[in-house]
Amino acid sequence: MAIISEKCPDIKITLVDLNEKRIAAWNSHDFKLPVYEPNLKSLIKKNRNKTLFFTTDLKNSIAEADIVFISVNTPTKEKGLGAGYASDLRWVESSARSIAKYAKDHTIVVEKSTVPVRTAELIKKILTSSYLNGNNDKPKKTFSVLSSPEFLAEGTAIKDLENPDRVLIGGEDKDAIEKLSLIYKRWIPESKIFVTNLWSSELSKLTANAFLAQRISSINAISALCEKTGADVREVSKAIGADNRIGEKFLNSSPGFGGSCFQKDLLNIIYLSRYYGLDEVADYWEQVISLNEWQKRRISKLVIETFFGTVSSRKISILGFAFKSNTNDIRYSPAISVARDLLENGANLYIHDPQVNENEIALKLDQKDQKSDTEGSWSFTRDLKAAFVDADAIIIMTEWEDYLNINWHELTPLMRKPSWLFDTRGIIEEFIISQVNLNFWKIGKGFKKEL
Ligand code: UGA
Repeated sequence: MAIISEKCPDIKITLVDLNEKRIAAWNSHDFKLPVYEPNLKSLIKKNRNKTLFFTTDLKNSIAEADIVFISVNTPTKEKGLGAGYASDLRWVESSARSIAKYAKDHTIVVEKSTVPVRTAELIKKILTSSYLNGNNDKPKKTFSVLSSPEFLAEGTAIKDLENPDRVLIGGEDKDAIEKLSLIYKRWIPESKIFVTNLWSSELSKLTANAFLAQRISSINAISALCEKTGADVREVSKAIGADNRIGEKFLNSSPGFGGSCFQKDLLNIIYLSRYYGLDEVADYWEQVISLNEWQKRRISKLVIETFFGTVSSRKISILGFAFKSNTNDIRYSPAISVARDLLENGANLYIHDPQVNENEIALKLDQKDQKSDTEGSWSFTRDLKAAFVDADAIIIMTEWEDYLNINWHELTPLMRKPSWLFDTRGIIEEFIISQVNLNFWKIGKGFKKEL
């Protein structure tokens, strides 16, 4: 919406959230926004309260809107039918009910949230049944439902939105499609705006994420093979990526994919496939998740085994908690699972991240009801130097630029000897580490000889 307001200054955009705290943060005088995203703040500064408004006033915002985008979260269901696989659509449903209640005249409803295939049908049903339930005195309301899934990635959102590879609009109502594409056409070439049927649009979104996630599990599977055989996964990525049919992007091996989308969307496809009796298809995609889980586990196991099976009372510093760089989001971050494993084994963790909020980490790591004797402790620091002091090991979990610029000559001597570096993102060059007194493990390469 920040991009639409920037590109279409004649359109009034209102962002509605029922969460007062979040809206207050979006409206805060000092621009302490709830989301960290490069270059977002300057856009909000420029357009806030001019064409871009943040409010909790659901009723009036819907009533005056020509187009409503449903952009609520659709996490994996925790209980009930389809728990662990299907998406929880309660917020999509309640949004549709609010739209049905407050909309006036004709309203275009755009499904922006990532949803299971055929959710548009559910939205349509809610909208039309509310209309049918209304009495004849009420002003007549009509709706068109479109699907226009989002393909931006966190950390590069502004860039992705300004120059998308494509935009999808799924639907049947030609007028509504034309109205929505007129907005996109202000800055996106027509050739990149794809019009499809509703279900293709919904399924394309899930499929794009499934393919991307599959690529990461594929290269992560190869990273383990590289470590055993003496190959270097970065050389392999470069070699295969040069083949145009494969392409060079999304071939960085890692401690596993995280974020709110990949796993959720894979689970959705798996659920959908099983629902239609396509068990082989479901099993195929399930393996992408299993490999991802294995990759996370094998990293914590490797760290623990390096210390001969016990990390109890050792100071281990985790550099980076966000699921990727340039975001403060830790949803499904691989750092959570690695940190939990190490804590269970009694380690004293020092967690450093340039953007993540300590309270968010606490929500993930302090979940246990009972603390056993073997459990370790964790603390958070924004001071990189503090993370090195007396540390037995450093584990790089997120590829933040800050970590590319670490002065290893200055910081390594602060660690306890023998000291270890585990680079799970493969971002640190061997020749730099070879100049300091540090044992080194790099993903997709393995151990450098111990000193
Ligand atoms: C992903 C998709 O890339 C977007 O196109 C999509 O719109 C979005 O999900 C969504 O559905 O909302 P996002 O999860 O923000 O975007 O971030 P990605 O850049 O895709 O990274 C996902 C995870 O994969 C991260 O944990 C990242 O570290 C990991 N990754 C990515 C790798 O391990 N290796 C790579 O080469 C690339």
